[in-house]
Amino acid sequence: MRKFVIFGASGDLTSRYLLPALARLLECGRLPADLSIEGIARSDWSQEEFREHVREKFAQNATDVAPESRDALLSRLSYASGDITDPDSLRPLLPTDEPIVAYLALPPAVFAPTIKALAAAGLADGSRIVVEKPFGEDLESARELNRLIRQSFRESVVFRLDHFLGKQTVQNVLGLRFANRIFEPIWNRNHVERVDIVWDETIALEGRAGYYDATGAARDMLQNHLLQLTALLAMEPPATMDERDLRDRKAELMRAVHTMTEQEVSAGTVRGRYTAGEISGRQVPSYTDEQGVDPTRNTETFAQVTLTIDNWRWADVPFTLRSGKALGRDRREMVVHLRKVPHMAFDQTSRPRQPGNAIVLGMDPDTVAATVNINGPGDPFSLECIRLQTVLAPQSIPAYGRLLLDVIEGDPVLSIRDDEAEEAWRIVEPVLAAWERDLVPLEDYRAGSSGPVELREPEMGVPARPEPPEDESGC
Ligand code: BG6
Repeated sequence: MRKFVIFGASGDLTSRYLLPALARLLECGRLPADLSIEGIARSDWSQEEFREHVREKFAQNATDVAPESRDALLSRLSYASGDITDPDSLRPLLPTDEPIVAYLALPPAVFAPTIKALAAAGLADGSRIVVEKPFGEDLESARELNRLIRQSFRESVVFRLDHFLGKQTVQNVLGLRFANRIFEPIWNRNHVERVDIVWDETIALEGRAGYYDATGAARDMLQNHLLQLTALLAMEPPATMDERDLRDRKAELMRAVHTMTEQEVSAGTVRGRYTAGEISGRQVPSYTDEQGVDPTRNTETFAQVTLTIDNWRWADVPFTLRSGKALGRDRREMVVHLRKVPHMAFDQTSRPRQPGNAIVLGMDPDTVAATVNINGPGDPFSLECIRLQTVLAPQSIPAYGRLLLDVIEGDPVLSIRDDEAEEAWRIVEPVLAAWERDLVPLEDYRAGSSGPVELREPEMGVPARPEPPEDESGC
């Protein structure tokens, strides 16, 4: 693959994520030496104007990449202006004799016309198409988009990206579950009480009203990122880690997620919208006062949904998916809460709260932790909860970089297959429909607070100490 073409090159996604990730790949020596990158957009820019625009954006978004590497990427960049929804305008911009990566960094409304235009303009055999989330706006539009893609392209060349799948902790779910004997035997309803998948953010709207106000937290985070995490946490063991086995297992799990009734949505979901407040000394306006927001849309900035999975392994175990903006604390983690032991032989009168164990996979920073009840110091029959935790080295290649590499190398293992994309909408749609009908109130929460509802966190215990505590008396 020698050409990487970004459709929508003037947009936020390109300058915020794609080009910085490509620059980082180049810096790490992972970008093929002969790969050139072309940006296409409507803006009537010259080559130099485009490079200047990217240079400025790099100063904000690629601070972890050395200036020489940024310059090296800039020297591989070119720009063409054109109407990407018009095959006649596209045809002269695309090579006919060599395959390309066609990356659609576009708003959803332009996906379908661009795919049609690409098919009509004709891409060389072996080309790959990359589409971003949100894939469609509901189940029907996702199906329609898949139908359209299938008319011209084989599924094996289509990459539906979800950058969470490029995060190392997300991939570590696989290693943790399927390369150890200690977890898999307890990874089921007999031992697991509940699972929480949490992505609480302190950031607020950050000038993204154009996208976010028409999207909301459930479509922005739950429908894609958090459901993917659910699939990896809960799926059956795959026979191999190749794309077919892995994606078959994820799709199978998603099919087993129960379709919620209206009553279940009313009882098992919460939606909220932030009001003015303060986060770490920063004043945050009310969501409805943010520039570009239409308050009558009732867009939620917080969503919490408790799902169940109708299969032998998980029947009746609640999986709570939650994400919100402008919260008081960043909390990004997957927590598997294990049941308490069936009988506690230790005397519970003095310290009655011995929690069940929890396995916690934290993201940003990446951590793996388990809580364990042990005989504490002092009285050998009293218990203490300790935390065994490892903080992983930061990811050398950002999540986007990892996925772009897969695209360039043609491996779709970490991209979303057509059926997964549709299942995700099938799961979320009843929630959105009930919210649309106001069956669940849109609750206000103050920016900087813990949101409209608390989610009980695991007791994390005290960190395990490498050295015994100093005892003044030396006993
Ligand atoms: C994006 C969402 O996909 O993921 C954002 O649109 C969210 O709203 C972001 O903040 C979180 O991921 P990351 O990797 O940027 O922390």
